[in-house]
Amino acid sequence: MYIKEALKMYTASEKRYDTMKYNRCGKSGLKLPSVSLGFWHNFGDTGSYDNMVEMCKTAFDNGITHFDLANNYGPAPGSAERNLGKILRENFTPYRDELIISTKAGYDMWAGPYGDFGSKKYLIASLDQSLKRLELEYVDIFYHHRMDPETPLEETMGALSQIVHSGKALYVGLSNYDGETLKKATTILDELKVPFIINQNCYNIFNRTIEKNGLKDTSKKLGKGIICFSPLAQGLLTNRYLDGIPEDSRIRTDGRFLKESQLSEEKLAQIKGLNVLAKDRGQTLAEMALAWLLKDDYITSVLIGASRPSQILDNIKATENTSFTEEELRKIDALSI
Ligand SMILES: NC(=O)c1ccc[n+]([C@@H]2O[C@H](COP(=O)([O-])OP(=O)(O)OC[C@H]3O[C@@H](n4cnc5c(N)ncnc54)[C@H](OP(=O)(O)O)[C@@H]3O)[C@@H](O)[C@H]2O)c1
Repeated sequence: MYIKEALKMYTASEKRYDTMKYNRCGKSGLKLPSVSLGFWHNFGDTGSYDNMVEMCKTAFDNGITHFDLANNYGPAPGSAERNLGKILRENFTPYRDELIISTKAGYDMWAGPYGDFGSKKYLIASLDQSLKRLELEYVDIFYHHRMDPETPLEETMGALSQIVHSGKALYVGLSNYDGETLKKATTILDELKVPFIINQNCYNIFNRTIEKNGLKDTSKKLGKGIICFSPLAQGLLTNRYLDGIPEDSRIRTDGRFLKESQLSEEKLAQIKGLNVLAKDRGQTLAEMALAWLLKDDYITSVLIGASRPSQILDNIKATENTSFTEEELRKIDALSI
């Protein structure tokens, strides 16, 4: 203990498992925390390293055992994995077996025909690169990041099979698939005896796509977990934009994926209405938005982003009240659909 303090080493809170709820991922043996932390924004080379470290420690100290990455998270692409590799080495070495680290490949990563979509050539090379950046021997979950309209599904699933059977990932997941493609992929993965356990899709009060494209129902029928990304609609479903657009918000500091044009007058009116409802429930809007997803037993985890530790602390409070009255649900629908 004395030596650790002298070296300023991180010792995780002894209470880290006291409050977080862990949900079984579909019918698999793996449990994930109700709230997981994503590294899409704020962990690249434009972020503050000290802030990244604090966010990781805050998350883990409060039971968030799952960190989600992708090959291209940055900017620059790859830098979020590189930064997490350093954070893990400097702080989390004793805790590797308490952590679930996931990464993905499927979007544009490097020049030429072999750095995008779903070929075997791309997926195998990409995971090897990710492991080097993360300084890990294996990841816990490796995802194919998006459907590829051209590569035969058998080839992409075959690559996932080779990856788990070579020990470079323990489980595989699919991201941004629809219900029909998920069904076909599952048949192939079952034949190949691949532990495919989870779907990662966008799902939030404003985005109900997975209810419409068959993903949610099919996933449930097949016994796969669902982890919802952008559960706060990139910050729209929080108090961030209630009084204008702050200079330190995602819209202003990045603007690539959340644009000012998405914050129309109509959208802002909806956000304000939802905020009143959240207040009536004794929650922040962010807490209510996450609770709205977690009310559904079938949702394994909500995959939040954060720009500071305080947001993580706010978001985990969502787990304290995840039940809604019929009237509340009707009001939320009226304000969002
Ligand atoms: N598979 C895929 O294709 C895919 C796609 C997108 C994302 N993802 C995954 O999902 C993760 C989360 O996505 P996301 O960052 O869009 O999630 P999000 O949780 O919807 O949005 C995160 C942003 O909301 C704001 N925020 C969070 N908590 C807040 C709070 N309590 N109060 C006020 N504002 C709060 C922050 O914005 P400010 O920065 O403005 O403070 C934060 O950066 C990613 O990191 C990634 O792992 C996957």
